[in-house]
Amino acid sequence: MSSSKYQQLQAHLAAHPATWLVTGVAGFIGSNLLEHLLKLDQRVVGLDNFATGYQHNMDAVQNSVTAEQWSRFKFIKGDICRLEDCQAACSGVDYVLHQAALGSVPRSIDNPIATNATNISGFLNMLVAGRDAKVKRFVYAASSSTYGDHPALPKVEANIGKPLSPYAVTKYVNELYADVFAKTYGFKTIGLRYFNVFGQRQNPNGAYAAVIPKWTASLMAGEPVLINGDGETSRDFCFIENAVQANLLAATADNPDASNEVYNVAVGDQTTLNQLYRYLVTYLSPEFPAVRNAAPVYRDFRSGDVRHSLADISKAARLLGYSPAYRIEAGLQKATAWYVRNLQGQAAAAVSR
Ligand SMILES: NC(=O)c1ccc[n+]([C@@H]2O[C@H](COP(=O)([O-])OP(=O)(O)OC[C@H]3O[C@@H](n4cnc5c(N)ncnc54)[C@H](O)[C@@H]3O)[C@@H](O)[C@H]2O)c1
Repeated sequence: MSSSKYQQLQAHLAAHPATWLVTGVAGFIGSNLLEHLLKLDQRVVGLDNFATGYQHNMDAVQNSVTAEQWSRFKFIKGDICRLEDCQAACSGVDYVLHQAALGSVPRSIDNPIATNATNISGFLNMLVAGRDAKVKRFVYAASSSTYGDHPALPKVEANIGKPLSPYAVTKYVNELYADVFAKTYGFKTIGLRYFNVFGQRQNPNGAYAAVIPKWTASLMAGEPVLINGDGETSRDFCFIENAVQANLLAATADNPDASNEVYNVAVGDQTTLNQLYRYLVTYLSPEFPAVRNAAPVYRDFRSGDVRHSLADISKAARLLGYSPAYRIEAGLQKATAWYVRNLQGQAAAAVSR
């Protein structure tokens, strides 16, 4: 098992290509799934309505694969809130990797109706379309926010608390619906509770940006980094390649006990925001020496945020053969190198403003 299980799977897939549907394919996680699948010579259908995703994410994937690999990708511009778009996307598909959703806790607090429509009604459309198309497995993006106010650390899948935000409600409802579809229709689902995924193409811009891309862009632009609370809030940050691994293992897992379950997808390392800030300064300072003299600005805690987060990943290891290849430091080195290569123009423009 362990990492060799994933290596064996990649070799198997390359020899036996399948057809995958990636929803949210123009987004951060979706575009990384697309890139990995095309590099394994898979056929991929992508669905996205560009609510928070970008054509440039798919262009970047095109530039990273061969013309032949790219020819195996079919993009559908569509909305998961429209059942017919979901049906068109699911037709002829072996595996669904459902990523499309409105992410962000604060976005859901600002606009719970929009988050509910995409994350619950859209999710239900995708379940129905996937069931009717008889896909082999439906893997979906769940969330560590489902642990809510449960105080125990590390987080174990069976022990959840009450949700702390509308977003967390929607992600928990996804799990309930997937479970009911398994029980009533025999539909094979797996939920992946992502814990703060980060890496290339995660959007640094806008009010709802995640902490790693946002702080990286701020440091590069010479702007202050704002820390919500005292900085001792902690997270189990998960590099994107670990999340990709979990998706491919979940879609193809042949152990009957593995199906119709939810899994933590993280590393099992607890990092405070203060530590994260120091890591980013370390990795950015060779290119941006001024960041060594910068100091973060502390402000109020943010409503809806969980205080501490740390995953027990033994269930995914046992039933899926999941073995994260990147801990936070190795992942951050790759991610910051990507932002330095890809954001430098933007950073320079921001500084000169
Ligand atoms: N990034 C994380 O740390 C994290 C953590 C937990 C869960 N998740 C979940 O993982 C998934 C992917 O997140 P991400 O970080 O890549 O976010 P993202 O915003 O980069 O990607 C989401 C994609 O879904 C698309 N989308 C949104 N609404 C849609 C609709 N109605 N129809 C079709 N497409 C739609 C967006 O345009 C975007 O391309 C989401 O379900 C999110 O809730 C992410």
